[in-house]
Amino acid sequence: MKSLSIIASVLLIVSSVMAQEGATVPVTNTGGASTYSCDPNTCKIENNCRCASVNAPGGLSPADTPQFVTVTYDDSVQEALMKTALSMVNVTNPNGCPGHGTWFVSMEYTDFSLVQQWYAAGNEVADHTFSHVGTPSAQEISSVREMLNAYAGIPVSKIQGFRAPFLNYTKDTLNIVGQQQFVYDSSSSAVTDDVYWPYTLDNGMANDCWTGICAAGQVKLPGLWEIPMYSVLNTANVPQLMDVYLAGTATETSQWSQAAFDKHYNGNRQPFGIYVHPTHLSTYAGTPDPKEKFDAVIKLIKDISAKPNVWFVTNQQLLQWMKNPVKASELGAQDYMQCKQPVIAKEICNGLDDDHNGAIDDGLVNSCNFGTTSMKTCFNCPATAPSLSSPVPASSAQNGTAGYRYPLGDGCDTTWWDPIGNTCLCTSSDCQVKSMAVPKSNTNTTDSTSDASSQDSNGSNGSNGSNGASGLVSHFASTAIIAVLFAGLSQIL
Ligand SMILES: *[C@@H]1O[C@H](CO)[C@@H](O)[C@H](O)[C@H]1NC(C)=O
Ligand SMILES: *[C@@H]1O[C@H](CO)[C@@H](O)[C@H](O)[C@H]1NC(C)=O
Ligand SMILES: *[C@@H]1O[C@H](CO)[C@@H](O)[C@H](O)[C@H]1NC(C)=O
Ligand SMILES: *[C@@H]1O[C@H](CO)[C@@H](O)[C@H](O)[C@H]1NC(C)=O
Ligand SMILES: *[C@@H]1O[C@H](CO)[C@@H](O)[C@H](O)[C@H]1NC(C)=O
Ligand SMILES: *[C@@H]1O[C@H](CO)[C@@H](O)[C@H](O)[C@H]1NC(C)=O
Ligand SMILES: *[C@@H]1O[C@H](CO)[C@@H](O)[C@H](O)[C@H]1NC(C)=O
Ligand SMILES: [Zn+2]
Repeated sequence: MKSLSIIASVLLIVSSVMAQEGATVPVTNTGGASTYSCDPNTCKIENNCRCASVNAPGGLSPADTPQFVTVTYDDSVQEALMKTALSMVNVTNPNGCPGHGTWFVSMEYTDFSLVQQWYAAGNEVADHTFSHVGTPSAQEISSVREMLNAYAGIPVSKIQGFRAPFLNYTKDTLNIVGQQQFVYDSSSSAVTDDVYWPYTLDNGMANDCWTGICAAGQVKLPGLWEIPMYSVLNTANVPQLMDVYLAGTATETSQWSQAAFDKHYNGNRQPFGIYVHPTHLSTYAGTPDPKEKFDAVIKLIKDISAKPNVWFVTNQQLLQWMKNPVKASELGAQDYMQCKQPVIAKEICNGLDDDHNGAIDDGLVNSCNFGTTSMKTCFNCPATAPSLSSPVPASSAQNGTAGYRYPLGDGCDTTWWDPIGNTCLCTSSDCQVKSMAVPKSNTNTTDSTSDASSQDSNGSNGSNGSNGASGLVSHFASTAIIAVLFAGLSQIL
């Protein structure tokens, strides 16, 4: 008998969560796995349908399959957390482009100017509800997209993913996610027999069946992808999901994680995930220093990124590949794997250091103060603090007056939009872009398990087509870590 245990935090969390998420449960799926059936002859990718399977799509052999690694982050975006998050995708993919990750953002305590930087660097931003509640209303989910669009300038169409707070996803929540036309959910877990590649919910859920979610009549959402969260087994074979580094010593958790990675890498190459709450790996005055755990996680990341055909990608990049799987040797040339930044000579408030003076958006970010709370944004400050019932209140500045910031223009991507000048600096396909690709220095050509030929692919192609992807921003204001708002400490999942 194995059990599912999500080691969450040294801190108190809602006891019902422990009861639910920490309970010992059988892995053999009496909850309905046996009822999942899917016919690959009718469920075809041309119709945005894919059956749950442990085998790679497109009939690719493991040797031809890229090993994807997804690093994901949950909860609010703040300065110290962002620094931690960036250091966890500070790797170079085989095509010379930087690794990227996915942040499931909740709105409270979030710095929207940092969200914009995260996105501008080529990373993904996804929805984790407004106020981090276990049973979210439709408004809890939709307000996140409105706010990320209004205050971080992210096109709504680029906010495609959802993760349930406390991973407490239900049929009702998934139905809302489907109604709001998200591309994917990533709240479920996969342990041993249910380590499926991402699949669509046309035929219901196929993993995590112990919750009963797989039973007939539960979920049927054609076209909505499920990206399972892949767990790591500890020495006692107990699956660990998020924040594995909290479940043992740094040495132990490195060993468990390395073994789990090897199982994927030497097996069918299902994606491997590293799922974190950056708070636990960030250093704060007055709390125990997690540096040893942090260093161990970084070492794991560097070690696995040095192996042939290992790619650190966003969930959106992973799904792009799922929809059109190509051999590992061809991945580096795909549009969605390029890394380009716009060439803009003057600083605009777009999340990038356009004038290369070492500071992002310097002097252009708005600080909005609402008395007890505050937020930062390249866009207009709302006249009152955003709330669940009014996530994007009217702005304090008026259109046409000095200081007004213009919302992201239709069809413009974030990095090209000047909110002060009210202009999109790229409206055609031949805008000047600069590739951020660098030669990969630690290329390991002794891959015994794959053809390794992706090492030759050239990501630094001067071709255009701005995909929004761009280089990893490595600049940080080196100010002392400011006291982070911690009212949300119970909100750790
Ligand atoms: C990324 O790694 C390089 C080299 O190891 C290091 O100099 C740099 O500070 C790192 N950046 C971040 C954001 O961790
Ligand atoms: C999880 O969802 C169920 C069903 O909506 C609810 O009863 C439970 O309280 C939720 N758990 C948490 C921690 O919010
Ligand atoms: C480079 O760009 C050209 C033109 O867009 C394209 O045909 C070619 O496949 C690209 N090569 C790589 C390695 O990206
Ligand atoms: C600002 O005002 C101009 C002129 O009245 C109008 O064309 C434009 O749509 C307004 N923009 C916004 C974002 O309200
Ligand atoms: C290169 O890969 C081989 C086989 O996977 C491994 O034994 C070796 O340690 C790797 N070398 C480096 C420098 O990562
Ligand atoms: C990679 O692309 C760059 C820019 O187009 C080019 O200068 C270089 O020769 C290419 N390298 C290979 C190996 O194709
Ligand atoms: C971008 O693409 C357009 C049309 O495909 C082409 O005319 C232009 O030369 C390209 N620019 C660069 C920098 O590759
Ligand atoms: Zn959370």
